[in-house]
Amino acid sequence: MKKPIFASVLAASLILGAAGAQTAYAKPAEQAFELNVTEKKILKKINAENMYSTIAELSKTPRVAGTESEWRAVQYVKKKFESYGYKTKVQPFTFEGYDAPTKIELTVGSESFKPGSFTYTVGGKVSGELVLAGLGKKDELQTLDLTGKIAMIKRGEISFAEKVLNAAEKGASGVIIYNNTTGALSGTLGAANEKYVPAVTLTKAEGEALAAKISSGDAGTAHLHVEGGKVETRTSHNVIATKKPVVSKNKKSDVIVIGAHHDSVEGAPGANDDASGTAMTLEMARIYQHVPTDTELRFVTFGAEEVGLIGSYHYVESLSDEEISRTIANFNLDMVGSKDAGDLVMLTLDGKANLVTELAQDKSKKLNGEPTPFGQGGRSDHVPFAEAGIPAALFIHNPTEPWYHSPQDSIDKISKDKLQDVAEIISTSVYERARLDIKWPNVFSGPKMKASPDMIQEQELN
Ligand code: BES
Ligand code: ZN
Repeated sequence: MKKPIFASVLAASLILGAAGAQTAYAKPAEQAFELNVTEKKILKKINAENMYSTIAELSKTPRVAGTESEWRAVQYVKKKFESYGYKTKVQPFTFEGYDAPTKIELTVGSESFKPGSFTYTVGGKVSGELVLAGLGKKDELQTLDLTGKIAMIKRGEISFAEKVLNAAEKGASGVIIYNNTTGALSGTLGAANEKYVPAVTLTKAEGEALAAKISSGDAGTAHLHVEGGKVETRTSHNVIATKKPVVSKNKKSDVIVIGAHHDSVEGAPGANDDASGTAMTLEMARIYQHVPTDTELRFVTFGAEEVGLIGSYHYVESLSDEEISRTIANFNLDMVGSKDAGDLVMLTLDGKANLVTELAQDKSKKLNGEPTPFGQGGRSDHVPFAEAGIPAALFIHNPTEPWYHSPQDSIDKISKDKLQDVAEIISTSVYERARLDIKWPNVFSGPKMKASPDMIQEQELN
């Protein structure tokens, strides 16, 4: 790797000498001079107002994957990238979307219930005798004839999906799963499956009372009606803006991916999750538009993160092995601007340091006096990159704000200071790796020397 991570530390200490060493733990304002002139120029370009107004625009509505409003966000992001002069590609992909039931009715004899349901519960209208089916394990069902009947199954030991599939295989037309602990039961069947039959949930108290009635033979016929519960193939999109490196045409360069997800969950404007990261990705693209780099920069906003990281998996899967090996870093910006969240942290899939955390720790120490801490965490678009062996980290504030995934995740909760702080760390970290190195004229037979970043500033920035 051609650029030692701490090259600028070295350059700074050479220039500053002993004075530089003494300022290692000085307060932040005094420390900024550890950054070189070009880095300071990059910092000056960051405009938190820009990011704020992008978040305000994007968070006017939720942006659920595969919907018209996500598509509008895609168009908005694409236009912004193009207005900065980037060649921009919209990358479509499909996924299995799910709409929760609109109505669930269950009556048994003269008694009616208000059942819950699972994600991926299918719709249907079924009637029949209730049969106690234990935990719904295969061996328990072996001697039971469930044909045309509704299986009454207790939570525990095996997954909800297995319980539903085992009962369906024995001919059950519906399934009721009751809780084994207090509180309502909700959950997921994990994925769509055409073998599912309508499956709903009852509380522990409801389930046990009903099980007792079934045992004594006075439960009566059950009628179960699940309306809606629709699985369909939907289309979402990633938006990819590319900044080509300044290198000879046939030499393949390293690639850095700076990204965020533009979709949100249903009912949430997703100002912080993740219009904030989307706005910051756009801002990074804006400030880098005239900065020549010898590393390719890809600014990517991902679709369908909230339904299983689908967009980022699709992006990584669409790369050739050669492109994966050239991709040296992924900076994942997800929830980077809430007033009500804690301090910035970085999360890596394996909890270990990597190129991204090392670059960001170096720069955050110089910017703020303290290196940004890192820990272990998945749950966002860095996961597919990490799984492909690409150094990746999620930038997020910890603890999370109380508005996470709620209708209150709105623009009024966004802090321009937080946006500014993260943007400073990301922009300088990327620069450390992507900056254009100048080779001295090869008049000596010895090894080539590299110019200090300060010496190439005028050429790099307009
Ligand atoms: N931004 C969140 C991830 C997050 C939230 C990480 C809080 C750490 C703390 C992301 O958009 C999200 O909600 N992810 C899903 C998981 C995904 C695989 C569907 C989640 O965490 O439920
Ligand atoms: Zn998110």
